[in-house]
Amino acid sequence: MTQSTSTGDKSATERTSADDRDPLFARIPRRDFVKAGAAAGAMGSLAGCTGLLDSDGDTQAAADVDASVPPGELDDYYAFLSGGHSGDIRVYGVPSMRQIMRIPVFNVESARGYGFDDETHEMLQEAGGYTWGDTHHPRPSQTDNQYDGEWLFVNDKANGRMARIDLKYFETDAIIDLPNHQGTHGACMLMPDSRYVFGVGELRVPIPNDGRDLDDPSEYGSTLSAMSPDPFDHEWDVRVDCNLDNGDSGKEGEWFFTTSYNSEEGVTESEMTAADTDYVVAFNVPRIEDAVEAGEYDEVNGVPVVDGSEDSPLNDGDEPLVRYIDVPTNPHGVSVTPDGQYAIASGKLDPTCTIIEIGQLNEVGDPNDAVVGRVNVGNGPLHTAYDGRGHAYTTLFVDSQVVKWDIEAAVDAEMGSEDPVIEKHDVHYSPGHLIAAESYTGDPQGDWLIVLNKLSKDRFLPVGPVFPENDQLFYIGDDDAGMELVKDTPTYPEPHDASIVRADRLDPASVYDPDDLELDFISPSDEDNFIERDGDQVHVEMYNQRNHFGFSDITVQEGDEVTIRSTNIEQEEDILHSLAIPEHDVNVKLAPQETREVTFTADEPGVYWIYCAYFCSALHLEMRSRLLVEPAD
Ligand code: CUA
Ligand code: CA
Repeated sequence: MTQSTSTGDKSATERTSADDRDPLFARIPRRDFVKAGAAAGAMGSLAGCTGLLDSDGDTQAAADVDASVPPGELDDYYAFLSGGHSGDIRVYGVPSMRQIMRIPVFNVESARGYGFDDETHEMLQEAGGYTWGDTHHPRPSQTDNQYDGEWLFVNDKANGRMARIDLKYFETDAIIDLPNHQGTHGACMLMPDSRYVFGVGELRVPIPNDGRDLDDPSEYGSTLSAMSPDPFDHEWDVRVDCNLDNGDSGKEGEWFFTTSYNSEEGVTESEMTAADTDYVVAFNVPRIEDAVEAGEYDEVNGVPVVDGSEDSPLNDGDEPLVRYIDVPTNPHGVSVTPDGQYAIASGKLDPTCTIIEIGQLNEVGDPNDAVVGRVNVGNGPLHTAYDGRGHAYTTLFVDSQVVKWDIEAAVDAEMGSEDPVIEKHDVHYSPGHLIAAESYTGDPQGDWLIVLNKLSKDRFLPVGPVFPENDQLFYIGDDDAGMELVKDTPTYPEPHDASIVRADRLDPASVYDPDDLELDFISPSDEDNFIERDGDQVHVEMYNQRNHFGFSDITVQEGDEVTIRSTNIEQEEDILHSLAIPEHDVNVKLAPQETREVTFTADEPGVYWIYCAYFCSALHLEMRSRLLVEPAD
């Protein structure tokens, strides 16, 4: 396993083998490409790529790129993409880039009955009652700096919330409304073991935002909110005066990093871009825990809020709670290298990435002394991902490129040098985030990279004035051949960020375990199936299966409040039913062995056919019952 020291035609820097430097960098792609080697003929499907075949038609090194996943075969990775202001999460297979599923989070979604049954409806109501959210950063939980397949967490930038998705069932099971946030932007856990889930408050407001200090922006602030993952509870906030933007965790359970583009505490664009520098804000989590433990906080909206502002007394002394590191104006992304050594912030308005040596933060008096490198990557650097072989990949929004550069070469080079840049590759167009396989862990896989382009322009058939985004898949596993653009993928607006997880790290259930559900399982037995009246409330419990519901008729009175609880008793995977009632906005999905409940008012006399909206068998259309609503006297 040797690491090439060739850094491509743009490199002016000789460097030592990454393998000699750190065992964490001693990675080669794990993907087994025998499938590709045996299918050289299939490479024709990659005709858009260059350099795959030599003149004799033999496969070269780069010809190992096989992004085809033939019918009947499965992908190697899950990619979880945020849906942006669609409010959901999309699940893709990598490398096929097939969209496999969507997971509604902050949005009501009829295909999965999400927000229609009583449980999900109440969860959305208790989290503010909004019908949309703005998801940006889907982050799967980790144990020992590796994905553990338990949870996925995501922010709501629109309404200041965080949500948890259960990866056993691929469904949202909890939402926390963060009372001291208006917009929660960055989202990440404290590594190595997801001890905290962090929501990063972006929009500065008075805290509490109750009408005080309306037009006194100097009194506004933002907070970093810490939640426990399970149970999903809000534990504490740290308040700062500047804004906070993206966030990422160190690997050792101590530091959490965010960017801040509004150190000026401005309100208008010109105010927010006035200063030459802004911050990477480094939160010392054990110190914050000590302050919470010692009662050194104010309670605001029921949450302990620790003062982490620059002039906080808690930031005096040798071990400040929060360190403010100057970086060039209006930075955007910050991400920690897989070995936990560096936090790298992308400049956005400045053409550089700034490298902060995390270990130095405990050693130096002035946190600016922890800045150990600054590499000139190009115009509009937004986000940085890693391949585990010592390279960083940064999106250039303005240049519409991805730039690959050498991290240690950037530490060794002069500040502002372009020399560590290895390669630039055009993307289409205006990339925001990018993500490499398991880049956010201690163990990136180093093979696939997805670039999430904000604009698709001429890449797809025109569909009117609302364009899809373009998520582009690159193969990055061959440093000699360089980055290989493999495919364009149109996506519904608009993914912001993604996480790519090796498929074998997840173990989703294909039918529900009734013990995991709050509601009791309803078997076909007579005692389990009943219609009960209590005043003007009617309670129905019934099972369903191919091709009927437990009752063929349910008779109620006009004005009754009706609750129907139903269990899909199918044991066969992929046989879903639903409980759909026309003109009552009732639409409940029932996966195998799942029990759900729905409550509605029968306010119009008449006959209503309760039917099943999932195509469950040849007699799917006959699977129905009557709701008979008798006129009131
Ligand atoms: Cu059950 Cu269609
Ligand atoms: Ca600024």
